[in-house]
Amino acid sequence: MTGARLLVVDDVAAAYPGAAVPAIASLTFEVRAGERIAVLGPNGGGKSTLFRLITGELALGGGRLDLTAVRCAFVPQTERSRLDFPVTALDVALMGAVSRMPWWRRPGRADRELAREALRRVGLAAVEDAVFGSLSGGQRQRVLVARALVQDAPLLLLDEPFSALDVTGAERLELLLRELAAEGRGILMATHDLDQARAADRVLCLNRVQIAFGEPAAALTREVIERTYGGAIVDLAAGAAALLPTHHHGERR
Ligand SMILES: Nc1ncnc2c1ncn2[C@@H]1O[C@H](COP(=O)(O)OP(=O)(O)O)[C@@H](O)[C@H]1O
Ligand SMILES: [Mg+2]
Repeated sequence: MTGARLLVVDDVAAAYPGAAVPAIASLTFEVRAGERIAVLGPNGGGKSTLFRLITGELALGGGRLDLTAVRCAFVPQTERSRLDFPVTALDVALMGAVSRMPWWRRPGRADRELAREALRRVGLAAVEDAVFGSLSGGQRQRVLVARALVQDAPLLLLDEPFSALDVTGAERLELLLRELAAEGRGILMATHDLDQARAADRVLCLNRVQIAFGEPAAALTREVIERTYGGAIVDLAAGAAALLPTHHHGERR
């Protein structure tokens, strides 16, 4: 890994206000320009908490977190509760421009053009006027990636972007994220899917505490996978480890 460091995390811990024990602890990893890092962990393992920490929504409980990237763009876990909000795909992409503006400015023609360009980039030019909530899960995810592109952030944080997607949607998003990394962006994406983690450049295994960090081939040993998932693993006849399905449909965080 030779790209510039965008995020450096050193022995970090964080607790929710009022909680007796930290939600996550002992995290030490980095994200460099040009790499895709998967954050692999079970439901409740602390993946979303890590993103809240990086975006500053949650206070650091210990250690050091250096966000050297000037900006990071966050693609949250899809929240079905907000899908009835009457905004178009273009409106959502345009929000990426607003986040870069002084409070007194409104988005203008140039910003709209940037937002259109970003929607083209993610293959959604045809639906720019469609209501966001009417799009498929995969399309919504790509609109949110377009918003992140308009923000022009060197570091992209994506919280379980593949969760609600069908195979085609997942392949499109995977390709797009590879392109963005090849352009020199750093990508940190949460997943509970082992195959997604195997396809990343490096993987951070997280189950409340850090279990491992490194290239998938080296980091994803059987022992690491078992500790990451708390032993919820079944053996396949082929000898490969498979994970029991995580039932968390309808979960929001
Ligand atoms: N807003 C919150 N307040 C208190 N505890 C929370 C909050 N959100 C999550 N937690 C707790 O933090 C832990 C990690 O949750 P989370 O980061 O959402 O995991 P993941 O995203 O990996 O499923 C869980 O035990 C969860 O109960
Ligand atoms: Mg989560």
